[in-house]
Amino acid sequence: MKINFDKIIRSISIALDLAEISSMDESDKEIIEDVTNINYSEHKFMHHAQRTAYISLELACQLNLPENSRKLIYIASLLHDIGAASCLNQSHNSHTYIYEHCTIGANITKNFPIFNNLSDIILYHHENFDGTGAMKVLGNDIPIESQIIRLADLVDVSYSEKKPSFKQKNRIINWVKGNSKKIFSADLVDAFLNCSKRDNFWFNLENILSMDFILDSICPNLNIYLDIHQFEEIAYMFSQIIDNKSKFTAKHSHSISNLAYKVSKYLNYPEEKCIKMRIAGLLHDIGKLAVPTKILDKNSSLSSDEFSIIKSHVYYTKIILDRIEDIPDISEWASNHHEKLNGNGYPRGLCADNLSEESRIMSVCDIYQALTEDRPYRKGLSDDKTFAIMDEMVKENFICEKALSYLKGSLGYIEKNPLEH
Ligand SMILES: [Fe+2]
Ligand SMILES: [Fe+2]
Ligand SMILES: [Fe+2]
Repeated sequence: MKINFDKIIRSISIALDLAEISSMDESDKEIIEDVTNINYSEHKFMHHAQRTAYISLELACQLNLPENSRKLIYIASLLHDIGAASCLNQSHNSHTYIYEHCTIGANITKNFPIFNNLSDIILYHHENFDGTGAMKVLGNDIPIESQIIRLADLVDVSYSEKKPSFKQKNRIINWVKGNSKKIFSADLVDAFLNCSKRDNFWFNLENILSMDFILDSICPNLNIYLDIHQFEEIAYMFSQIIDNKSKFTAKHSHSISNLAYKVSKYLNYPEEKCIKMRIAGLLHDIGKLAVPTKILDKNSSLSSDEFSIIKSHVYYTKIILDRIEDIPDISEWASNHHEKLNGNGYPRGLCADNLSEESRIMSVCDIYQALTEDRPYRKGLSDDKTFAIMDEMVKENFICEKALSYLKGSLGYIEKNPLEH
């Protein structure tokens, strides 16, 4: 099985943009970073990854960087704030944020397949050319890819979606010029000035609805396909971000992934399918990145508005995973885990006829895991209590009897409790 790497990167960048947006609240008006006089916009990181990637790629073309470096810039610019998704609780208004999201991002990506220097590029994306940045690295000791992302990132955070480009371009150009040999090298500033002479550069920045196509036209052709194991490495990386987002579910995705794999093995699915089920488990809650942590971490009952927001996580799981066209099965199994046989689940209200065995298994694994896990308002339940509750759910036509029996079988519960079955 081969999975298009480019699609994976784009899909991840959407997840990261959603995470950035969901982390913002009304008090997040400014980012605390010691950068001279930057006029931070209030676009709240909407489309930040995509626009940073666009500006970075324009700069890379202008500097005539070799193909390999452009590929690295493309991937690194889309993922540069991956560490932020993991420390969203402190978000951008924390003094430690700048340093931490760089080190966390570098750490998360250290086993990234194929591009093993991605981690360094991310580590140094907040360095200043004069050595006054996050890690105090100086001049050309900062990788050129990181220098480029640094400039693109700052141009994007100072760019406002609320004004037309022509009303703000002079301000941005002057600010970049004023930071030549301070935050940026003189060569990089020249490259930016050349890009910014073209009207289409500014029209492209403004045209966020077409940014996907714009990126297609400028990005290097990766032509890379990952095998299922390499894809699992990336899924694993993401599951850590998802699980870190809420302190109450620190191992949730992980545990479901293990459970789904166990049940698949129990059913003698072919190995590749077992791994796909494991990946579906790792990614089933990826849409939670779009849900504000405040709501995920609430330890009292949710208002109906809050529940409506929580429900969107499975919708976003599907939006994110459907972008990776080579994994329709994983996307389906992962995003159906809150559907019910009687059609009262969410987000699509699917009925039994449309719920595959694999989707039904993901759903029972998710419920089992949620009930047996410790939560802030209760201890995790025993297997006996959990299965008693789940047996009731079968009677109410919420979950599948067979899927539940497979789960019990895979956990050895049936042998331990033969009389009940
Ligand atoms: Fe950053
Ligand atoms: Fe950024
Ligand atoms: Fe969920």
